[in-house]
Order: sequence, then structure tokens, then C-alpha cells
Amino acid sequence: MNLLVTGAAGFIGSAYVRRLLASDEPDAPRITVLDKLTYAGTLDNLQLDHPRLEFVQGDIRDAELVDKLMADADQVVHFAAESHVDRSISGADDFVLTNVVGTQTLLEGALRQGVETFVHISTDEVYGSIEQGSWPETHPLSPNSPYSASKASSDLLALAYHRTHGLDVRVTRCSNNYGPHQFPEKVIPLFVTNLLEGKKVPLYGEGLNVRDWLHVEDHCQGVELVRTEGRPGEVYNIGGGTELSNKELTGLLLEACGADWDSVEYVTDRKGHDLRYSVDWSKARTELGYRPRHDFAAGLADTVAWYRDNRAWWEPLKRRAQGLS
Ligand SMILES: NC(=O)c1ccc[n+]([C@@H]2O[C@H](COP(=O)([O-])OP(=O)(O)OC[C@H]3O[C@@H](n4cnc5c(N)ncnc54)[C@H](O)[C@@H]3O)[C@@H](O)[C@H]2O)c1
Repeated sequence: MNLLVTGAAGFIGSAYVRRLLASDEPDAPRITVLDKLTYAGTLDNLQLDHPRLEFVQGDIRDAELVDKLMADADQVVHFAAESHVDRSISGADDFVLTNVVGTQTLLEGALRQGVETFVHISTDEVYGSIEQGSWPETHPLSPNSPYSASKASSDLLALAYHRTHGLDVRVTRCSNNYGPHQFPEKVIPLFVTNLLEGKKVPLYGEGLNVRDWLHVEDHCQGVELVRTEGRPGEVYNIGGGTELSNKELTGLLLEACGADWDSVEYVTDRKGHDLRYSVDWSKARTELGYRPRHDFAAGLADTVAWYRDNRAWWEPLKRRAQGLS
């Protein structure tokens, strides 16, 4: 079986590919990764010498390349995206081009080339913000940031290709991922690497925004269950079960890095900052047997240890992002 995985030089896609390459089952898929290697992608995330892995550098908007890769693919798992909310606030062009137009290009290629199954990775942010309770998959989408609006557009396009053309599309909407190999601009790796460098950490507003935290390996387990056991045209929420305010998370990160609140700099809140996200993932649990396996405290400690032990991975990325090299 040939699997095309987009965006797997990034954080979650690379964890998913590592998971599949670790399998020694005789029917383990051959994997082609299509990734543009934007600022967020790095080949250091991939085992390029693995015999079941092929890497192709390219843009998901390149219809000719996409057609060629789809012709060899039985299934697709689509992670590629512009993924950072703050960047979408300072400029949304790439978000629309990659997340919306890129996804449509992939769906069109999958349809033309008769791909069996297309798993689209969406986000809990498409639902908007919720003060109490949790969203089921049937909740109307109400995205607030240019990032989440572009993801909602691609999510709806994916479902439209199922309803209109009968393409076997499955959509996942997950909560905030954490774990190793996450680009050091998202809150956990940014705070950990800043603290390891003896710098301050920027906490938005009063730190009251609440997120559900999901270990990246639990997310990948959920994606794999959706690919292998999910139903065409269905949406599956994937959550982690650990809800924390940003202030609570900051306290845990300070403790893990041996720092105190003097290392925190309160900064002006993000524009339109959603207060709380919370997905109801009972459908994935009852239908697919999904449940997160990582205990948050242990997962966070392992993540901090990974950044402490892998400065050679993140220091060049951080320098590049700051325009220093
Ligand atoms: N990180 C999270 O907590 C989170 C939560 C919910 C949903 N998601 C979704 O999961 C997916 C993966 O997120 P991530 O955190 O791994 O993102 P990431 O930013 O770490 O990686 C994105 C990857 O996509 C590639 N890419 C970007 N534009 C491309 C293009 N035009 N053509 C080909 N490749 C391109 C980049 O080079 C990079 O390797 C995204 O769709 C994101 O919206 C992420």
C-alpha cells in the first residue's frame, strides 16, 4: 500500500510518519512525503534513509506534481498547512493559498487519480470558542482567526468532495498538540527553549485562555484509527483530556525548567484570542476505541527533556526564524 503524507517535515506529520515506519508488519505502507519545506519544515524530522520512505520537496498547490504523486498513491493523509495563528494575524495570504487552495488541489488530484481514502487533518479551532461544555462534531463551525477560518474552509471543502463526488474523505479535528519536534514558535517549545536560553517568556494577557492538551503520539494514534477504521464522510474529534489555562501551563513549564515567575513577561493579548477550546471526543472513543495514553505530567516532562537534549535541533530553527542566519 502506498501512502502519500503531506506536510510530514513538520511537527505532527513527522511523528505520524515515524510511527508508521517503526512498524515491521508485512503490510506496513510505503510512504511518500510531499512537503514544501517552509520555515516550519525540516528534513531533520525525517528518517530519509528508511527503505519505505520517499521524500519529495514540493508545494501542495502544484497540480501537476500532485497528480503524479496521486497516481501512485492508494491513500492520503493531509497535514500540510500554515499552522501558526499569530502569523495569520500579521498576514493571511499564505494561509489561504496553502490551507484552502492547496487542499482543494489535493482533493481534485485525489479524485482524478481514484485515491481510495483521503484523511484531512483539521483542528478544534474551526468551532470557535466555548465557555462551558464541549463541542460534538455536529456543532456548526464558527472560526475566529484567519488561521482557523482557512482551516474551516479546507475542512468544509474536504467534506464537500465526499458529498458531491463520493470521495472517501475523513476529517479529524484535534486539540492542541505537544511533544518533541514542535517548531519553537508555539507556546510549549517557545517557553521551554526561552527558559533554557535564560530568556523571559511572553504570556498573553492574563493567561486565562484555556486549551486542551494532546500528546502528539496520541493524536497520531487517533489519525491512524481514523485512516484504518473510520467511516467515509465522517468527522472525528480527537482530544487529550488535560485542560489548562495558559497561566497554569506556564507555572508547570517554569517548574520543569527550574525558573520562577520573574521569567514571565506579560504581553498584550493576541487579537481576537479565543478564550477556550474543548472537543467532545466520545465518538472516536466509542466508534474507534481511541483514548489518549500519555499522562500529561509525564508527557510534558519528557518533552522538556527532549528540548534540553536536542539543542542542535532547535537552535538553528530559532536563529533562522529570528533572521539571524
Ligand atoms: N500543532 C497543533 O497543535 C495542531 C492542532 C490542531 C490541528 N493542527 C493541524 O495539524 C496539521 C499539522 O500541524 P503541525 O503543527 O505539524 O504544523 P507545522 O507547521 O509544524 O508543519 C506544517 C508542514 O507543512 C509544510 N507545508 C506548509 N505549506 C506547504 C505547502 N504549500 N506545500 C507543501 N507543504 C507545506 C511545512 O513545510 C511543514 O513541514 C496542520 O494541518 C494543522 O492545522 C495542528
